[in-house]
Amino acid sequence: MALDNLRAFVGAIDAAGDLRRVAHPVSVDKEITEIADRCMKSAGGGPALLFERPTLPQGGASRYPVAVNLFGSEKRMALALGVPCLDEIGGRIATLLNVKVPDTLLGKLAMLPQLAEVAKFPPKAVGGRAPAQEIVVRDRDVDLSQFPIPVCWPEDGGPYITLPGVITRDPKTGVRNVGMYRIQVIAPNELAMHWQRHKVGAAHWREMAARGETMPVAIALGGDPASIYAASAPLPPSIDEFLFAGFLRKEPVRLAKAITCDLEVPAEAELVLEGYVDPREELVLEGPFGDHTGFYSLADYYPKVHVTAVTMRPEPIWPHTIVGRPPMEDYWLGHATERIFLPLLKLTLPEIVDLHMPPEGIFHNLVFVSIDKQYPGQAYKVMNGLWGQGLMSLAKVIVVLDKDVSVRDPKEAWWVALNHIDPERDVRFSMGPIDVLDHSSRGFTYGSKMGIDATRKWKEEGFTREWPGKIVMDEKTKLRVDAMWRELGIEL
Ligand SMILES: Cc1cc2nc3c(=O)[nH]c(=O)nc-3n(C[C@H](O)[C@H](O)[C@H](O)COP(=O)(O)O)c2cc1C
Repeated sequence: MALDNLRAFVGAIDAAGDLRRVAHPVSVDKEITEIADRCMKSAGGGPALLFERPTLPQGGASRYPVAVNLFGSEKRMALALGVPCLDEIGGRIATLLNVKVPDTLLGKLAMLPQLAEVAKFPPKAVGGRAPAQEIVVRDRDVDLSQFPIPVCWPEDGGPYITLPGVITRDPKTGVRNVGMYRIQVIAPNELAMHWQRHKVGAAHWREMAARGETMPVAIALGGDPASIYAASAPLPPSIDEFLFAGFLRKEPVRLAKAITCDLEVPAEAELVLEGYVDPREELVLEGPFGDHTGFYSLADYYPKVHVTAVTMRPEPIWPHTIVGRPPMEDYWLGHATERIFLPLLKLTLPEIVDLHMPPEGIFHNLVFVSIDKQYPGQAYKVMNGLWGQGLMSLAKVIVVLDKDVSVRDPKEAWWVALNHIDPERDVRFSMGPIDVLDHSSRGFTYGSKMGIDATRKWKEEGFTREWPGKIVMDEKTKLRVDAMWRELGIEL
């Protein structure tokens, strides 16, 4: 059975012995960050935390607890998605893709019974009052300062909502998008929305601005864990994240009509902030924000969200994460994406054996990819192919290795890569879009990329010397040493 909401997820983590309830009063003003950071930096990602008595910046206790680091380990990420191992989902997708499907994957859905599995669990509209709408606060009564919204880092511009699902709709196609974008609280009923220019929410906003129309926006906090994850997944704009979450859960996501705007929201959320962006309005200053690069993002101008209603359960849990110097909880969300989306990348680049984005590379800075090299120049084909795919276009450094290298182990990947390259020959620079958070590129979101061909070089690639093999002990010697090991008195 899929987990239906955040409290069920917290309960499941607790049952697995992986939750620490913090009864001690802890301020939302940076103290939660310092505690969560120490946990997230510990082995395996540390425990999930439920702060039962957060205190508000203006003083006084919050009525609502704050949950942090719920997704912060491989085990909890798998629990969130209802699988023993994340690669199982990649496997399900690979099975679907094994059906000989031409390019328009979604167009064929209805015709292909196997692929229909993707569309088997579309979001389901529920009637009546949804759990997320038991309490409704509207218009002038909206006061976000009563919620435990943390200030994460010393130089942050204010309190931040960090684990939301931001719901918008494409005015042209009507397709919904749910994106995880941080949101700064700038007034009791006003927010600054940090959807970056490469993201789908920002594309919807540009569309609405071109039409000169007011844009409905809903912000879900909580809901089923697969939907929370799906908001962070780089799905193509044509796929509704709640449909994808249904595929992951093998059960539909239940949606309710928002009360003050024309959108649907997760019925099982803890809270929902309903509102709108008026594209005719001036942008507002957002940031600075201690970001997942480990550096501050500088303040910049982003759209203002007017909150027209807060709907919630009677005792909502406030979901939160912190980002900062890696590794942090977001590594595990990104890691799930890496595993789940690998079969999709293999669809267009079938020579890919494995791919890994280590935490220090904060996803877009470093991609190791191993390939089954069959012809000269194939490493360049793969790096160029990756730079042509969705958010992979933002990858700053791509290192291509042969299939026998375990790219999931960055130490091994670097060891082999650094041995295999003649830098002048094997490094290429290219240009392209750069992640909004990159502070070093020559222009904002525009700059260079580096591709490293760390595969063995072939004669056709101009390498005429002999290529040496890796050092590996022979089996017979290993067995002889195994047999005498106890007698040697060496403890390792
Ligand atoms: C914890 C966390 C915070 C994030 N914050 C932002 C953000 O502030 N702005 C942004 O554009 N993307 C942010 N992202 C990345 C997006 O969620 C991700 O790129 C996602 O694919 C965007 O969805 P979209 O493709 O539907 O726009 C964040 C991801 C995580 C895991």
